[in-house]
Amino acid sequence: MKIVIGADHGGFHLKEMVGLLVTELGHEVQDIGCYSTASVDYPDIARLVCEKVDAGTVDRGILICGTGLGMSMAANRYAQVRAALCHDHYTARMSREHNNANVLCMGERVIGPGVAEDIVRTWLAVEFSGGRHLGRIELFSKC
Ligand code: RB5
Repeated sequence: MKIVIGADHGGFHLKEMVGLLVTELGHEVQDIGCYSTASVDYPDIARLVCEKVDAGTVDRGILICGTGLGMSMAANRYAQVRAALCHDHYTARMSREHNNANVLCMGERVIGPGVAEDIVRTWLAVEFSGGRHLGRIELFSKC
């Protein structure tokens, strides 16, 4: 898959690790920054990732900040984005099975690298269940 990744300064280190992991897993990674721990505004990073997901020029996005909260709030403003803030294996799996999440958000200050790796591996591998869950995510357009 084509995966675009981005982080603010609070997620920079985890984003570097995640970029390597996603590449190792055989995906094509676009890294839109940031490229250091210098302070940046997370909505600017979310916009660069979500414009690509929204337009369908990439398959999925991964956004990382200190908590994952700001990134998920910003990402879910885009009509075609279903961003999920995941903290563990279960939320990663369910965000795919039930919600067909196309943007994964994580908080570098919340989870460690081992949990983050488990989340990313799970989130990239698990398929959407469809069925009744498809009808539910289609209702997002009425929200
Ligand atoms: C930056 O200090 C921090 O606010 C940001 O990374 C994120 O946690 C916001 O939700």
